[in-house]
Amino acid sequence: MNNPGSDALLQQVADSFAATPDPRLREILASLVRHLHGFIRETGLTEREWMQGIEFLTAVGQTCDDKRQEFILLSDVLGASMQVVAVQSERPAGCTESTVFGPFHVEGASRIANGGDIANGARGEPCTVFGSVRNSDGDPVADAEVDVWQSDDDGLYDVQRPGLPAAQGRGVLRTDAQGRFWFTSVVPVPYPIPTDGPVGRLLDASRRSAWRPAHLHVRIVAPGHDTLITHVFRAGDPHLESDPVFGVRPSLVSSWPGSAEGRRELRFDFVLHRHEAP
Ligand code: BEZ
Ligand code: FE
Repeated sequence: MNNPGSDALLQQVADSFAATPDPRLREILASLVRHLHGFIRETGLTEREWMQGIEFLTAVGQTCDDKRQEFILLSDVLGASMQVVAVQSERPAGCTESTVFGPFHVEGASRIANGGDIANGARGEPCTVFGSVRNSDGDPVADAEVDVWQSDDDGLYDVQRPGLPAAQGRGVLRTDAQGRFWFTSVVPVPYPIPTDGPVGRLLDASRRSAWRPAHLHVRIVAPGHDTLITHVFRAGDPHLESDPVFGVRPSLVSSWPGSAEGRRELRFDFVLHRHEAP
C-alpha cells in the first residue's frame, strides 16, 4: 500500500535547495530529493529499514581503499553505471555501443606494436585479435590509440595477482593507415565480480549471479572522435543474459572461432562517432 507521507515536508526540503547558485547542481538536488522522498513514501519505509540501509552504505564505504572501490561496484550492480553510459553515449545508428569501464583498467599500459603479444605470460587458450577502426562516415581512423585489457584463464586481471613482475593481458596499440590493429592474446573466460564485501552480500540476498560473461575490454581514443569505451563479449557464454553489471549489448557479442590453423581468432570492427566540424 502506498504511504501518503508528507507533501509539506517534501516541499520544505525542495525549497531549502532552491537558492543553490549553480543551476545544474540545483536541478540535480531537486530531482534527488523528489526521487528519494518518493522511494521512502512508495515503500512505506520503516525507521529500522532506513537504518539497515545506512549500515549497508557504511559498510560499502568501509570496504573502499586505494585498490577497492565498493561504491562503484554498487553503482554497477544497481545498473546505475550502465544507465549513465546510456544517457551519455547516445550516438547515431551504426556507431559501436559503449559499456561500463570496470575497475581493472591501468592508465599508461605498455605500448605494443601491431602483431605483438599482450598476454605476456598470462595463461589461456592462445588467440589472435584483428580489429579495425572507422568513423561514422565509413573512413578508416588511422593512428587511433587502442587500449585493451582482459583477464587470464583463471578469470583474474594482472592487478589481482600481486607480485607479478610485469603487466599481463593489457597493452596499448595504434591503428595503421587503414585503421587496422592486431595482436595475440588468450581467449577471455567468465569471472565473478568481487563478492567478499557488502555488494556480494546484496547479490546473495537477491539470488543474483556474480559472474560476468567473458569479454575483452577496449578503449579507443582518436582526435576528432568520441572516445569509445566498450567490451567485446564472447558468443555462447552462459552468463550473457545475467551480467551482474548489465553491460551486455547484443551488438558487442562476437565469436572467437578457430582458424584453419586451429588457432582462435576474433575479428571486430569498431565505429567511432566523428565530431561535427566546428
Ligand atoms: C570488469 O569488467 O572488469 C568489471 C566491470 C564492473 C564491475 C566489476 C568488473
Ligand atoms: Fe572485465
